[in-house]
Amino acid sequence: MNTRDKAFDIHQTQEKKLVPYGGYFTNHVPGHDPELTECGPGTPLGEYMRRFWHPVCMSMELTDTPRFIKILGEELVAFRDGSGQIGVLHAHCVHRGASLEYGKILNKGISCCYHGMVFDVDGTCLKVPFPQGEEEEGERYRCSIRQGAYKAFEYHGLVFAYMGPPDQEPPFPKWEGDFTVAETDELVPYSNFQHCNWLQVQDNSADNYHTMALHAKKQVTGEHYQGTTFDEVGAASMEVAPDMHFIPVQGGRSLACSGARRADDGHMFIRVQHQVLPNLSLHAYTSEDGKQKKLFSRFHMIRWTVPVDDQNSKMLGWRVMGPGIDTRGVCDKSLVGYETIDFLEGQTAMRRPERFGRYKLEDMPPLPTDHRARENYKDCQYAPGDYEAIISQRPIAVHALENPTKFDAGVFIFRKLLRDAVRGSNPQASPEQFAQWLHEQASTPNSYCSGNVFELPLGRTTEEEVTLRRHLAREVVKILTAADALKGHEREAYVKTQMESLQKDVLEKRHA
Ligand code: FES
Ligand SMILES: [Fe+2]
Repeated sequence: MNTRDKAFDIHQTQEKKLVPYGGYFTNHVPGHDPELTECGPGTPLGEYMRRFWHPVCMSMELTDTPRFIKILGEELVAFRDGSGQIGVLHAHCVHRGASLEYGKILNKGISCCYHGMVFDVDGTCLKVPFPQGEEEEGERYRCSIRQGAYKAFEYHGLVFAYMGPPDQEPPFPKWEGDFTVAETDELVPYSNFQHCNWLQVQDNSADNYHTMALHAKKQVTGEHYQGTTFDEVGAASMEVAPDMHFIPVQGGRSLACSGARRADDGHMFIRVQHQVLPNLSLHAYTSEDGKQKKLFSRFHMIRWTVPVDDQNSKMLGWRVMGPGIDTRGVCDKSLVGYETIDFLEGQTAMRRPERFGRYKLEDMPPLPTDHRARENYKDCQYAPGDYEAIISQRPIAVHALENPTKFDAGVFIFRKLLRDAVRGSNPQASPEQFAQWLHEQASTPNSYCSGNVFELPLGRTTEEEVTLRRHLAREVVKILTAADALKGHEREAYVKTQMESLQKDVLEKRHA
């Protein structure tokens, strides 16, 4: 706390904070929490994050010109050279700093526009254009420099990079084998820029309570829905406040967010969202109407929240498409891509993606950075989405000003898991032990993500109903934990059997 904060702290006593019309007593905005929000080189979080693989852009962003990107506060260029190698290099040329975004992509590597030095994807300087007769000196110089480079590869339309020390490279975890479960599952990539710190985007994933307000009809002004509510996609059960249970799993490396909602008088919907350190989240079917029994349905959205710098971030991931997951056939692949997603409107800075189309990157206007200067600002006020809620928490949300309720528990538990990981107070979540655990899991760890609709009639009393919700939310996570040692179909069969028994037990006890 600096001197100014201290002075205000004395002035803002708890008693004064509750004075009517007492805004004066709460007008000081303290600093953000650097430990969990600052991502630059040398910061505790930045160093922790650099020990994991992250998506940095979409494959479609790699064209015939280098792509300028900023990740973890570092200015980079990404490109695919003529031989198909993926390069993620420091943007500023090691010679005298011109940006390689103006360079030329070659069959092997990239050449800087300023003096023509050529760099391979691993940073090796391949060529220094010294004049004739001075080749030897040029060669000596060439061997003395290297462009900053990061190992990268493409996977299902996303470019992943590892930005940590090369000798500490972790395995790339393919959750559940290949992030898919049903044979018909298709991973459709997307990237959505968020004009705020990464953590409030990640917080939103553990904030399962907001759906009953932000995504509900009642929150819209007038009749200006614009595709922002679950009701519009026939998934009104998502507008019901869930009974949430947040259970750290996998040695505190991840968090199971288990929510129980009544879908209708005959069905109880238990949705488990899985948040994995440091910045991955795996989401169950987002368009669930809860009208039909469904046990252990899996991923519908898999995403990483990647810091661009301290005040900007990108959600990069996949929507999982196909009849195996989208049982109601309501998803729209044509709306999933760069700065667009078919999930509720209000996820990106720009609405109405039909204005620029799905894959026309070059035609797309620059993203507006001032959310109040957008031409559809008023529409966004009528029917705000996640983008509006999250980025308006300030460029970096100030945790010291928050007054959490018990419904915010998921956000705070995940922040604690992260803090313990960054500080080293949970050794299991340290980069070394995390990587070791992934090796032990053959790089295909199990995810707790699941959508489960049980055939269970409404409790006879409110008390019975509440007890039932809480029991199911916890029991589902217990079943998943008990299945941790199993993989694939074996695990699926076990989990489904256990869930069937759970349903039967509940019904038998009720009738006893
Ligand atoms: S600045 Fe890049 S070659 Fe000179
Ligand atoms: Fe949301």
